Amino acid sequence: MTASRRQLFVTTALPYANGRFHVGHIMEYIQADIWVRAQRMLGHTVDFVGADDAHGAPIMIAAEKAGVTPEQFVAAIAAGRQQYLDGFLIAFDNWHSTHSPENTEISQAIYRDLKAAGLIQARTIEQFYDPQKGMFLPDRYIKGTCPNCRAPDQYGDNCEACGAVYAPTELIEPYSALSGARPELRASEHFFFKLSDARCVAFLEQWTQEGRLQNDVANKVREWIAPGEDGRPKMGDWDISRDAPYFGIQIPDAPGKYFYVWLDAPIGYLASLKNLLTKRGQDYAAYMAQPGLEQYHFIGKDIITFHTLFWPAMLKFSGRKAPDNVFVHGFLTVNQGEKMSKSRGTGLDPLKYLELGMNPEWLRYYLAAKLSARNEDIDFNAEDFMLRVNADLIGKYVNIASRAAGFISKRFGGRLGEISPDGDALLTHLRDALPAVTELYAEREYGKAVREIMQLADRVNAYVDQNKPWELAKQTGMDARLHDVCTVCIEAFRILTIYLQPILPKLAGDVAAFLMTPPENFDAVTRPLGKGARIDVYKHLMQRVEAAQLDALFEPQVQVQQVESAIKDEANVGPAAAPGGEPLAPQITIDDFAKVDLRIARIVDCAAVVGSTKLLRLTLDAGETDAQGQPRLRNVFSGIASCYQPDQLKGKLTVLAANLAPRKMKFGISEGMVLAASHGDEKAHPGIYVLEPVIGAQPGMRVR
Ligand code: MSP
Ligand code: ZN
Repeated sequence: MTASRRQLFVTTALPYANGRFHVGHIMEYIQADIWVRAQRMLGHTVDFVGADDAHGAPIMIAAEKAGVTPEQFVAAIAAGRQQYLDGFLIAFDNWHSTHSPENTEISQAIYRDLKAAGLIQARTIEQFYDPQKGMFLPDRYIKGTCPNCRAPDQYGDNCEACGAVYAPTELIEPYSALSGARPELRASEHFFFKLSDARCVAFLEQWTQEGRLQNDVANKVREWIAPGEDGRPKMGDWDISRDAPYFGIQIPDAPGKYFYVWLDAPIGYLASLKNLLTKRGQDYAAYMAQPGLEQYHFIGKDIITFHTLFWPAMLKFSGRKAPDNVFVHGFLTVNQGEKMSKSRGTGLDPLKYLELGMNPEWLRYYLAAKLSARNEDIDFNAEDFMLRVNADLIGKYVNIASRAAGFISKRFGGRLGEISPDGDALLTHLRDALPAVTELYAEREYGKAVREIMQLADRVNAYVDQNKPWELAKQTGMDARLHDVCTVCIEAFRILTIYLQPILPKLAGDVAAFLMTPPENFDAVTRPLGKGARIDVYKHLMQRVEAAQLDALFEPQVQVQQVESAIKDEANVGPAAAPGGEPLAPQITIDDFAKVDLRIARIVDCAAVVGSTKLLRLTLDAGETDAQGQPRLRNVFSGIASCYQPDQLKGKLTVLAANLAPRKMKFGISEGMVLAASHGDEKAHPGIYVLEPVIGAQPGMRVR
């Protein structure tokens, strides 16, 4: 099994650094993490890396809107990543960023090599330019009237009303979605990667069709390589440059030109690896030159072309090694089958899952049970989740240990005994499954692996039911048999735990502690603990899923009306009398006042809240950083939409009540309150005035 030790380099897709992880990202990381752990348990060496995909126009524009630099923007996102990865036991060896010196260096080197190979061509193309913003507009930022059905406000590439697909230049009355200005056509020189070059086509025909890719993926890709009516492949050449201003990597010897984000994004895999190797004191060039090095990428079905056409060709023709394979998964949906009328919503927020104290290994087990090697969507269903975890994982597997361990400690001094032939036959059956189980992991057939392992657990439970240790314990003269049966159960539990270890690494660690043996590789199934081995007192290994936890996870948030009345409460609207329409509140001491921690905060972003006429969503920088020293931004909902347009507040300083307990609202969690003045009788004296400090105050300063 460990005949030859392989060296594997494994990645997941690099998430855009424009938002938090959603459960689809977590699914991809869990799928890859299980595979990596299984490979390691087979004795292979794996380097497993991820990174943020930080470049591109959308991130540049989002940062500008938030009033921060793109660097600050992506740093704030990066600061939030580790809690998810730790929380779901995803053991990346490194998490890096495409906005890094390593990525700049490798991207520029790959570009130079492609150019030397004659595969980069400059061409002048005409594109829409926003004269007000001073930038070329990506298609998604151009809107106008559909040339086909005349629906207004359609995007630059297709019409949502009639489904027509067109070029942005065909739009009637086009306008910039960024400034509203009428875009002008301007010529600019772009660089193209000549994918239609005969060398590339020949290579891709081979690389994509020689049996490595999943069938449906290979078929899909074949259409892109196949010649179209003009005899040239459908994929055409690839425009890899963008004009300044752009948040990205500069193209060598081409001032004002940047790599299109999708050029440097996959190179980020190599950049993260290089960063890891440097930290370890290993040489990147020597690592990449290892003849046996294997390279695998886990990705979702929406980014197949980038990974099966552009990426292998970039590597190959820059004189590097193409990936060994790309593993494509479908999308995760949540509670698809649920009717809208049901109380449970359809979003599964991974952070909320963790905050509710739900066990990450429940989700790992559930997803593993549903995952296969096929590129197909899977659905998270709350009832199914509860059933599989409680009935299978806990009912069939975890309970084996609890049925036997008590007798071992109480009756046999915590030591294992002799195993008779019937028990040995059962254990042999369990051990014989080893090649099948490891093969299923290696093929990413986790669902089948789980089924196989649960069938083995069924066999063990049948053995327990036949031998009834609880009855043996009451009979005289049956001590030896009781010891035998319980020893078989413990050994069977140990084998099943090893089989499940890639999916349940934390539980496997706990079991190893209980069995007083280190967690081991797959081949440890053939090395039984043996007679006389000591085990620890059994402690409960895993709680069951409670329906109330799922209810809380999918709980629809409080109604708008409640939120709005709560906002009124906060404004402490009282009877109209005295200054500002309300009497003074009762006297407090300086200590009372000191309990309220008021801080200067910058409103880095301000946005309307869809579904609410009263609230604005503020993103605040109160000068805070997290454990890694990265900026931490706060989300605050404020009932000021009647008085401010989001743009009026962006970039302004204000005062934040910073130590208020976070509040869950219909639209999310509000982490504090922004100070604003208003009259006690808002109807008679409308107007809300957000506080702004005199010039010179800085985010984070305390107001006292
Ligand atoms: N930044 C690019 C990838 C660059 S790779 C060099 C990107 N980012 S993404 O954040 O949109 O997606 C990251 C990964 O998450 C992709 O593999 C994508 O397919 C996957 N998923 C996004 N939504 C998903 C689900 N609902 N379910 C499963 N995976 C999903 O694309
Ligand atoms: Zn239309």
